[in-house]
Amino acid sequence: MRPCWTLSREVVLMYPACEHIDMLRILVVHGPNLNLLGTREQSIYGTLSLEALDSAITKLAKELAVEVTQCQSNSEGELVTWIQKARTRYDGIIINPAAYTHTSIAIRDAIAAVGLPTVEVHLSNIHQREEFRHRSYIAGVALGQIAGFGPTGYLLALRGLHDHLATGRRQEKTPTLVTPRRRAKGTRPLRSRLKDRIQSEGSIE
Ligand code: DQA
Repeated sequence: MRPCWTLSREVVLMYPACEHIDMLRILVVHGPNLNLLGTREQSIYGTLSLEALDSAITKLAKELAVEVTQCQSNSEGELVTWIQKARTRYDGIIINPAAYTHTSIAIRDAIAAVGLPTVEVHLSNIHQREEFRHRSYIAGVALGQIAGFGPTGYLLALRGLHDHLATGRRQEKTPTLVTPRRRAKGTRPLRSRLKDRIQSEGSIE
């Protein structure tokens, strides 16, 4: 495939196919025991497996033209490391921290530290359950919390986060598109870099 920058100036600036370079990237993080979905306490968490849930998320992501990566861990440290690494690789996070929701200052601090818009999801309505589940250490640093809708909650989170990020992008598009991932990396978008090159060199052939 021809790289975009060998196309004519007009095409590069107008051609929508170059948009894939700006595709939103979202990290979906599943916390402890969510690998047991489908068999675990079915009356609370339903019968859908984590694999089936991830497939449904991927399907919606394709429709929204968003790139998603899913991961699951039973270990708090691993979850913290993934959140830290997301800073330069993703535009936003969807997380079900599971039991760590109610205990983990480390996960809260990681989310606050990376500063990526983060949506907290719970399959069950944690506010209707035992009192120890009512407190979330995550909610205070999250863009929003969705609880009680089962697997649909993840899809609502994806739509919500997509709309939030896409709106931010539209506002940033003129004069320069700078997403949180780019801001963290310190790079400017391709279109803006190409415009500069065209202005200084007269052509980008
Ligand atoms: C959960 C709710 C948590 O309280 C619980 O520890 C979980 C799952 C949910 O998705 O409803 O493991 O996060």
